[in-house]
Amino acid sequence: NYIGIDLGTSAVKLLLMEGSGKILKIVSREYPICFPKPGWSEQNPYDWFTQSMDGLKELLDGTDRSLVAGISFGGQMHGLVALDDKDEVIRPAILWNDGRTTKECDYLNQVIGKERLSAYTANISFTGFTAPKVLWMKNNEPENFAKIHKIMLPKDYLAFRLSGNYSTDVSDASGTLFFDVKNRCWSEEMCEICSIKTSWLPKVYESYEEVGTLLPELAKELGVSDQVKIVAGAGDNAAAAVGTGTVGDGACNISLGTSGTVFISSDKFGVDENNALHSFDHADGSYHLMGCMLSAASCNKWWMDDIIGTKDYGAEQENITKLGENHVFFLPYLMGERSPHNDPNARGTFIGLTMDTTRADMTQAVLEGVAFALRDSFEVARSLGIHIARTRICGGGAKSPLWKKIVANVLNIPVDIPENEQGPSMGGAMLAAVACGEYPTVRDAAETIVKLTDTVEPEPELAAKYEERYQKFRKIYPACRDLFL
Ligand code: XUL
Repeated sequence: NYIGIDLGTSAVKLLLMEGSGKILKIVSREYPICFPKPGWSEQNPYDWFTQSMDGLKELLDGTDRSLVAGISFGGQMHGLVALDDKDEVIRPAILWNDGRTTKECDYLNQVIGKERLSAYTANISFTGFTAPKVLWMKNNEPENFAKIHKIMLPKDYLAFRLSGNYSTDVSDASGTLFFDVKNRCWSEEMCEICSIKTSWLPKVYESYEEVGTLLPELAKELGVSDQVKIVAGAGDNAAAAVGTGTVGDGACNISLGTSGTVFISSDKFGVDENNALHSFDHADGSYHLMGCMLSAASCNKWWMDDIIGTKDYGAEQENITKLGENHVFFLPYLMGERSPHNDPNARGTFIGLTMDTTRADMTQAVLEGVAFALRDSFEVARSLGIHIARTRICGGGAKSPLWKKIVANVLNIPVDIPENEQGPSMGGAMLAAVACGEYPTVRDAAETIVKLTDTVEPEPELAAKYEERYQKFRKIYPACRDLFL
């Protein structure tokens, strides 16, 4: 059996899978996220490890532990974990949705220059990426910076605690901005620009490669063999793509999680000249382009939990009856926005309220606003000549039939529904299965294991209404941009 660990932003989700791809059990454990200042976002790596260990115990409880052969990961990307020479965490991890590095991004994009960044890494700097965080530490916390012995990404910290080895994988390393995506290795030029010593960097693996075995004391604690393979794993979006079977040229997956991503698999390396879409390595040995919005399902969660004060999202959505005819718009930029605006100052907004606006209209506007913002990334892909015929979908937001219908009609393409919406944890388990020889390649595993259960087809009349709404939506951000400064 194989275990996939999805180290998410709100929780760690663990999945136990048979070699055939059958899911045996899923458990999840939450941990806090801390926003110490506006736009800052941090987590304690020790929480990741303790919750993952507790989760592993719960996952294995009542199952045949002797069958566990491999563990792998999908992890929240870009987060900076810095360790000292005793392997202790120096400061809380700075996460993917943290916006504190505006100055460092300006330095990288303007002074070093986007052309050079793009030539070295295939990408430009965004506040959430890892390189500007290293520079931020150097500029703002010199005493912490001086202690750095190793740096790594969130799921790599888990792999380190489980195996004792410093490792990362190509898909996650792609989001650091000191990685040469085209050649799948660290970029010496970028390390020099960011004052990163090569001795700090973990060894790079393909996502389906073994990085070591489970440490004997942990194997004992979990009651499994100490020959269990720890497998590199992938950034959560690449892992989700594997878990939803998004492999092969032009295949597309949307993740409606805390972030919202449009993941376009590509056989060939390519760069978006507009720098709106990221160019990263895929977990199957190929490449991908990706648009990432910072707040997707988290907008709905904010609206439901914090503003309306309900846990019953389904009941709230039952009151939504007039799709395509809402007079309210919502801009989903609650944490600023990455793709396509690259604007940490962007903010959330409701527009078009009237005396007869209802709570249902506003709930609907939130769901639609996220779908319109995903469409922005689709439009960038289209402008590059990429034809996306259909997409798959996963993530917590994909549990909502209404939201999937809105997405299918706003994008005006069929949305294929995989058997389960467990993208990254499923992908992690599949990568472990490949490393253990259960499948010859990641593609083979994806094509054999992933089944689609349904397709949401766009409806021409509704899609036409949404087309009109989208054309208005895309005018709102440029009109408001200066107000957010
Ligand atoms: C991708 C990104 C997010 C995180 C969420 O670039 O920043 O999707 O990986 O976990």
